[in-house]
Amino acid sequence: MTETVSRAEIADQASYADAVRTAVEASAAYYGEGDSPLDDDAFDRLVRGIAAYEAEHPEHVLPESPTGKVAGGAVIGDVPHTVPMLSLDNVFSAEGLEAWVAGLERRLGRPVGTWCVEPKLDGLAISARYRDGRLARLVTRGDGAAGEDVSHGIGMIVGLPERLAEPVTVELRGEVLMTRAQFEDANAARTAAGGPAFANPRSAAAGSLRAKDRAYQVEMTFFAYGALPLEGTGDDLAARLRELPHSEIMEYVAALGARTTAATPVPAVTATALEALHARVAEIAALRAELDFGIDGIVVRADAAADQAEAGVSSRAPRWAIAYKLPAVEKITRLLEVEWNVGRTGIIAPRAVLEPVELEGSVVTYATLHNAADIERRGLMLGDHVTVYKAGDVIPRVEAPVAHLRTGDERPIEAPEVCPRCGDAIDVSQQRWRCVRGRACHAVASVRYAVGRDQLDIEGLGEKIIDQLVDAGLITDFADLFALTREQLLGLERMGETSTANLLAAIEGAKAKPLNKVFCALGVRGTGRSMSRRIARYFATMDAIRAADDEAFQRVEGIGPEKAPVLVAEIAELAPLIDRLAAAGVNMVEPGATGPVAEGPVAEGEAEEGEAAESGLPLAGMSVVATGAMSGPLEGLSRNEVNELIERAGGRASSSVSAKTSLLVAGEKAGSKKAKADKLGVEVATPEEFAARVADFL
Ligand code: IVH
Repeated sequence: MTETVSRAEIADQASYADAVRTAVEASAAYYGEGDSPLDDDAFDRLVRGIAAYEAEHPEHVLPESPTGKVAGGAVIGDVPHTVPMLSLDNVFSAEGLEAWVAGLERRLGRPVGTWCVEPKLDGLAISARYRDGRLARLVTRGDGAAGEDVSHGIGMIVGLPERLAEPVTVELRGEVLMTRAQFEDANAARTAAGGPAFANPRSAAAGSLRAKDRAYQVEMTFFAYGALPLEGTGDDLAARLRELPHSEIMEYVAALGARTTAATPVPAVTATALEALHARVAEIAALRAELDFGIDGIVVRADAAADQAEAGVSSRAPRWAIAYKLPAVEKITRLLEVEWNVGRTGIIAPRAVLEPVELEGSVVTYATLHNAADIERRGLMLGDHVTVYKAGDVIPRVEAPVAHLRTGDERPIEAPEVCPRCGDAIDVSQQRWRCVRGRACHAVASVRYAVGRDQLDIEGLGEKIIDQLVDAGLITDFADLFALTREQLLGLERMGETSTANLLAAIEGAKAKPLNKVFCALGVRGTGRSMSRRIARYFATMDAIRAADDEAFQRVEGIGPEKAPVLVAEIAELAPLIDRLAAAGVNMVEPGATGPVAEGPVAEGEAEEGEAAESGLPLAGMSVVATGAMSGPLEGLSRNEVNELIERAGGRASSSVSAKTSLLVAGEKAGSKKAKADKLGVEVATPEEFAARVADFL
């Protein structure tokens, strides 16, 4: 195998013994209460280090070593399994997978006809025994030979029906996990009941499944990945379960009413050619960030019963299946501080300062915490070890404290009593706290935003000048800019005749900006540059925007029932500012836009399709992402300018690649978005190729 994966360096026998003790304790916690002091990466590194040391010093191997054991040798239950519940061996790369395939085919003396590829769900294994179609018993994996009876969990698990569609006696095997939403709900219920939060969805599922008397209800989800005959299974069914390929057994399981991965964006699929196998592995990996449940790898198995029977099993794992492990997207680090920052709209948002930790290739030192209620719901304290999670391109989030690592030195997180910026009161009537002065609290930030390159683009109005103007009381918002006089500007530091004249001309020029830029400059919460363009194009005039209600806003692509009322409220709040802008002569119409055609469902359909689809624009109906450095005719364009170009040519500009992306414009150093597009089979164009396609709109 040509894989290089990092592992713990173990130099001598004493460090080896230490490492074994740590790993045994960690896996006991992981498979027990579900709270391990090591994250998955750290644990895997440690076990690889142990294995490497044992390979060189077989005479030192300790009997309690976790290597070669199911569940690292942790937890024993008392319900024997009819057929052992095994582990899976791991590979960590495409080369590793290829070597494993070659090994299996050598063992069989022939190629494997069909592979089945499915996600490796990050929960805990469960055996569900059905008698005459009724769910009779739930057993954990335990040590593989016997597990713990957790039948009290019956009724708490979505996807594991209490009655099957047929009165059959059968054992389903699969994974119990919590979706993100189930995890959030479980932690809210747990902390509300005075308990410590679960560190992550996996421990929440493990802990909840094993707890017998909970004061509150939690919900989990089951996904089946196998079915076996039990004592009492009819001969016919028993024969089918022994003879059918895995993929067909899973179709049968789904027909019985149990949940399988078929119901997810990453269903199990079969592949015959090796390329198709690799492609599917890559696809599942690329879709990981979009799933609402955790996966920690991809399971590849020989589909045919005959291949499985011939390959057989080792004491720990089957030889006919392998887990292709994906890097951990969750790490444990420490919460050092919580900062409360006031944004340009006056929102006061907490931000976690973390002990730096590497997550998906970048070092994370800050993470979002949504609001004060969120901190409380998660039961976080300063100094806590916390799980930090990052999905795809998303900003890292603090998930939960690792409660059992507390030392007693943790301190409560103090929420501010007054606005940390201006000292005025805080409006706490909404979940997101806001300074009572609203935008005025951080006038400098909102003016700076309004005059930025992608909004009014007023050259020569840098931060220092804005600071001075605000400090001198000459402006409180950006509408005041249009009333500034030559004398006032000349009175500022380092403003001479020429720079004053230039600045006044630039301010005058800003009055002619199209509506989308003027609207964007308002800094309406929940709208950025591209949303502002869509709103301006749809409504065509500021008056139409101001007259729009919830329903009208929802006709704009990307605005749903949650965002629409926020927009209405924001625009009402901004009314005095908009009036002053209009009075100053600022343009309030979008060139080329005609405004909403008609009311009702027909107009709605048109709005969704966009004029583009009918007009035959080159990017009509396409979702386009640009990444990397632009070159050729696009050289020097900002990302926003490229997005504007995409939209002029009829496309929809987006910032992240997903299965819905139609085209990725990838410049130099395109990085992870390019990799993802390749994995998903999304069309990729160079900036030059793209420029040729949209030449008329440049
Ligand atoms: S197949 C003989 N398929 O991974 C073992 N396992 O590390 C057959 N797991 O104990 C297991 N998703 O808890 C299989 N799609 C999947 C899986 C899966 C998660 C878990 C399972 C197993 C562990 C092995």
